[in-house]
Amino acid sequence: MARPCFVANWKMNKTVVESLSYLTLLQKHLTDRALQNCDLIIAPPYTALFSMGKRIKELSLPTSWVAGVSPPAGVVPPSLRLSLAAQNIYSEADGPYTGEISAKMLCETGCQYVIIGHSERRNYFSENNNTIAAKVLASLGAGLTPILCVGERAKERKEGRTLEVVKRQVKEGLSRVDGDLSQCIVAYEPVWAIGTGNTPASSEVGQVHQAIAQSLKEKGRDDACGTLRIIYGGSVNEENVAAFMKEPHIDGILIGGASLSAETFVNIVQVGARCNVPLP
Ligand code: PGA
Repeated sequence: MARPCFVANWKMNKTVVESLSYLTLLQKHLTDRALQNCDLIIAPPYTALFSMGKRIKELSLPTSWVAGVSPPAGVVPPSLRLSLAAQNIYSEADGPYTGEISAKMLCETGCQYVIIGHSERRNYFSENNNTIAAKVLASLGAGLTPILCVGERAKERKEGRTLEVVKRQVKEGLSRVDGDLSQCIVAYEPVWAIGTGNTPASSEVGQVHQAIAQSLKEKGRDDACGTLRIIYGGSVNEENVAAFMKEPHIDGILIGGASLSAETFVNIVQVGARCNVPLP
């Protein structure tokens, strides 16, 4: 079973001060046993990455923590990974690209992941599968894990084109990756489900995830797939997360609006993680 991951995408929300307060709240819950096998990934705005990266490093883990023995208050157990993601990246290494941020700059902040091709970037900033493929390549080149977002629009779904659209986005988005796809995460986020309160049935999402995995295999990329994780995003909350995480092909969740409160994010993760990892 893939290690479950929960991504908090804050979008254009929270100042540096607000981001650090969130981290302080989050830290209080990190010793929960349900979270010990999870990747928690926070994607704040660019401006907060450096300060948050520094704060997370200060939470550094004792190597001697023993399973079953509670770590001291505020210490993160070693099997929980708390990481940062950027919400975007530029594909060039440096140069005259006013307003852009490179992979090297992101790495310096302590960031380990980057969300690429979110539907808001595709819609408002004209990103397409070509520019997205270049960003995926640039992030992997710097050792960052890309979280490639794909998803159909309402009209495409009505026309029965969900799988066609999603498979093409995955294929083209990953087209410049030669090697190991296990360093990538794919986030399936139907555009019509983002921020609307509407979601597909969890079984439908499971089928889309299965189709994505299958299409990568058919492209002869099965060896390269390794532990590639496919996560779901779109109006996930405390009530519906369990249904998604019980699906065998859903390896985690990308949460937007509901992740803006640290308490709600932790609640979602606790419910979701319990579905995925049976506790003793
Ligand atoms: P939402 O956003 O959870 O607010 O629907 C998800 C996303 O945009 O990634």
